[in-house]
Amino acid sequence: MSRLIVISNRVSPPAEDGEASVGGLAMALSAALREYSGIWFGWSGRTVPEFTGQLSIERGAGVTVATVDLEEQDRDEYYNGYANRTLWPLFHYRIDLSAYERSFDQGYARVNARFADTVLPLVDPADFVWVHDYHLIPLGQELRRRGLKNRMGFFLHIHWPPRRLFATLPNHRELVQSLFDYDLVGFQTEDSLTAFQEYVVQSEGGVLHPDGTAEAFGRRIQLGSFPIGLDAEPFTAAANGESAAGWRERMRQSLAGRQMIMGVDRLDYSKGLEERFLAYEDYLRTTPEAQERVFLLQVATPSRGDVPAYQEIRARLDAVSGRINGAFATADWVPIRYVNRSYRRDELAGMYRAACIGLVTPLRDGMNLVAKEYVAAQDPTDPGVLVLSQFAGAAEQMGEALIVNPFSREEMSDAIRRGLSMSKAERVRRWESLMHGVQTQDVTAWRDAFVQALMHPPAVEAAEAT
Ligand code: ADP
Ligand code: G6P
Repeated sequence: MSRLIVISNRVSPPAEDGEASVGGLAMALSAALREYSGIWFGWSGRTVPEFTGQLSIERGAGVTVATVDLEEQDRDEYYNGYANRTLWPLFHYRIDLSAYERSFDQGYARVNARFADTVLPLVDPADFVWVHDYHLIPLGQELRRRGLKNRMGFFLHIHWPPRRLFATLPNHRELVQSLFDYDLVGFQTEDSLTAFQEYVVQSEGGVLHPDGTAEAFGRRIQLGSFPIGLDAEPFTAAANGESAAGWRERMRQSLAGRQMIMGVDRLDYSKGLEERFLAYEDYLRTTPEAQERVFLLQVATPSRGDVPAYQEIRARLDAVSGRINGAFATADWVPIRYVNRSYRRDELAGMYRAACIGLVTPLRDGMNLVAKEYVAAQDPTDPGVLVLSQFAGAAEQMGEALIVNPFSREEMSDAIRRGLSMSKAERVRRWESLMHGVQTQDVTAWRDAFVQALMHPPAVEAAEAT
């Protein structure tokens, strides 16, 4: 029987690095794999003095989780280096933060080769291989070099940048070429898909075919956009459950009749947290009657703390939130409750429901699951308002949110004002439409669409293969 072999840098349970394992990928994959028999392979999050390729295997219901330890140098050059100091900032339009260092290239190549060596013996000929995210772009190529013939798909969880930006990456061509060793490459949005297609055609002289395939580097592969969704039903159930109700009540008491605006993010410069704080400050300044009547709860879990840009954004957010609180707070009110920790799903669900506005304003985001969680957690009879960045992938599907430009303080401040005074009828109308999307385009639909496309190639390609 064919199984699904899922490979990602991060696996669930979380890495033991002192930081909570939050993030869209881990949330989505643990949900997507629940009903599948297969293997989920990735880095354990641990480092050892010398790489051995020794697998740790945990068998769960259906899915077996297999992990491997890496060396410290691997973590520094591959995870902290190429993945999070080169690709992540570049793909989020921050070339000012991108570091191009050959030692990072080497670390990235070395770890992808190590992943290939380690996972290869686990793969049976009938299995489907599904590789995830920017840490592992060349893994497919490494597996092919080792003779793997299986159908292989790759899904990018983050945004794909425009080709002129992408061209600032040394070896950009080799990176794209390595994607052509997969049979299927999937993106979060039409926007990312189009940017990739433009690179293939305009930079590489490739050809796009009407069946969704692309030809370049002497290969023809399938491309598609597969917007990731939420594990909506359990999340809504959690929001309706007892524990969430307890949290909602706890929040209501602490609100003391005030309106709550809420943000939940990994502490990452792509999430636009400083801009959000400044927009909220603008709102307070231009709406004096709102002072002492609202507050912003910003939950921001520390992430990738070894990378200097993350240390810097953390320090900036401490300073900006402190300054705003100092300027506006009164003896019994602080305008921003800024919390650097993570919460369980049921706790988050209860807090989301108590919030009049979900403020989701990344400067750039592949999808953003928080926007969907906020919607899924609302009370159908009295829902809150989602304020969503036009630069989150989720905006392609969630047009009934108040869509804002996160670079414009005034636009965000206006949206807060509008959201807090929106009539119940309008809130319900917008929420119903958003909720319909969250429920139908959920994580199961995403997984099934990708896996179906991987298992069933377009007719032309199938004919050529025979
Ligand atoms: P990213 O993958 O870039 O972190 P997403 O919005 O797609 O962004 O996914 C973030 C996921 O991590 C969501 O499921 C969200 O609930 C979770 N998360 C983020 N911050 C926290 C936190 N402080 N506590 C618990 N979960 C969190
Ligand atoms: C984003 C990335 C994921 C990553 C997650 C958390 O969602 O697309 O690949 O796992 O952030 O980041 P971390 O570095 O903690 O794994």
